[in-house]
Amino acid sequence: MTDQRVVSWAVTLLIALTALLWKANAATYNVITFGAKPDGQADSTQPFLQAWAAACGSAQAATISVPRGRYLLGNAVFRGPCKNSIKFQISGTLVAPADYRALGNTGYWILFIQVNRVTVAGGSLDAKGAGFWACRRSGSDCPVGARSITFNWANDIVVSGLTSINSQLSHLVINSCNNVRVSNVRLIAPDQSPNTDGIHVQGSTGVTITGSSIKTGDDCISIGPGTKNLWMERITCGPGHGVSIGSLGKVLNEAGVQNVTLTNSVFSGSDNGLRIKSWARPSNGFVTNILYQNIVMKNVENPIIIDQNYCPNNQGCPGQTSGVKISQVTYRNIQGTSATPTAMTFDCSPSNPCRGIRLEGINLSYMNRQAQSLCSNVGGTTSGVIMPNSCL
Ligand SMILES: *[C@@H]1O[C@H](CO)[C@@H](O)[C@H](O)[C@H]1NC(C)=O
Ligand SMILES: *[C@@H]1O[C@H](CO)[C@@H](O)[C@H](O)[C@H]1NC(C)=O
Repeated sequence: MTDQRVVSWAVTLLIALTALLWKANAATYNVITFGAKPDGQADSTQPFLQAWAAACGSAQAATISVPRGRYLLGNAVFRGPCKNSIKFQISGTLVAPADYRALGNTGYWILFIQVNRVTVAGGSLDAKGAGFWACRRSGSDCPVGARSITFNWANDIVVSGLTSINSQLSHLVINSCNNVRVSNVRLIAPDQSPNTDGIHVQGSTGVTITGSSIKTGDDCISIGPGTKNLWMERITCGPGHGVSIGSLGKVLNEAGVQNVTLTNSVFSGSDNGLRIKSWARPSNGFVTNILYQNIVMKNVENPIIIDQNYCPNNQGCPGQTSGVKISQVTYRNIQGTSATPTAMTFDCSPSNPCRGIRLEGINLSYMNRQAQSLCSNVGGTTSGVIMPNSCL
């Protein structure tokens, strides 16, 4: 070999080695390099899925980066398990197709399924739900609708700093998960948009939701069967239907809801504040060990309500009573204003009365006057100032 050939061979080798090393350490996958276009026009679904496939196969912790810009995304299923942890670092906005029918009938827009150790940080979602709501209002033949971002059978999940606007249905769903931390999310849809729950938690253990602002058309947070060890702190809710446990007890065999805390939160102009509701039907479901504390109500229609006679459209429940057993529910330091004369309602099941309801410092007024409370089939204790007067 000539000297020149040796040098050129050595340089080639060096480049190849560097590339290999870089590949081994670089676990950042930029969706742009997979062909995603930040123009809001070109369909970026496949590039996102390819970036996910690459990250999911990475032996090292991987980051998927989504730079600034708008990315048109159709149905996207991010499936695990993956080899290591994955962080979706989003600086841009993910936009659903303009035609709501494009998301089809799967029920999901962005779905994470069977993933572990996934973080979604930052970013915005714009599901463009208005067309879908209009379809539903017109009563025509509409698709089932899509939740904006869902985690199914996922563990060790973080969602932080995410904004979601105009979801077709729920903004964020946590279903059958363990250890999920949601923080600093903003979820926004119009007051009258149908079924746009903020966050729905179901069948999950160890979910915490902190520092989040939810203004939407249905429940700010809805809590379904099988929820355990849920912690919610510094939530602002309204407009919306409040923080609701339920509807529970629609079916006979149902997992219970236990150990739920909501603390240091504010409700403004919402339909409900602290609501527990169950269908008036036989069920072996239950709700126990619930704590609401340090809550401010601003012009809330039903600041405190347990409704065990839920029976929309009077179908499947008339003449029956709820089998859901509600016990050990504490309301501590709940202050502010009710938008209706009845600030506290405990409408419990005649066959399964609510037990262990504790009122510890309640100060709710209606138009600067004394509000009322309503009790049926409920037992418990009070301490401190209770306004309206307790009917326990
Ligand atoms: C209740 O849930 C909290 C988290 O919200 C958890 O720290 C606590 O250990 C749980 N308590 C029980 C008895 O499981
Ligand atoms: C109840 O709240 C009102 C309005 O904040 C306040 O003026 C009043 O002093 C409170 N009453 C008690 C007994 O804490």
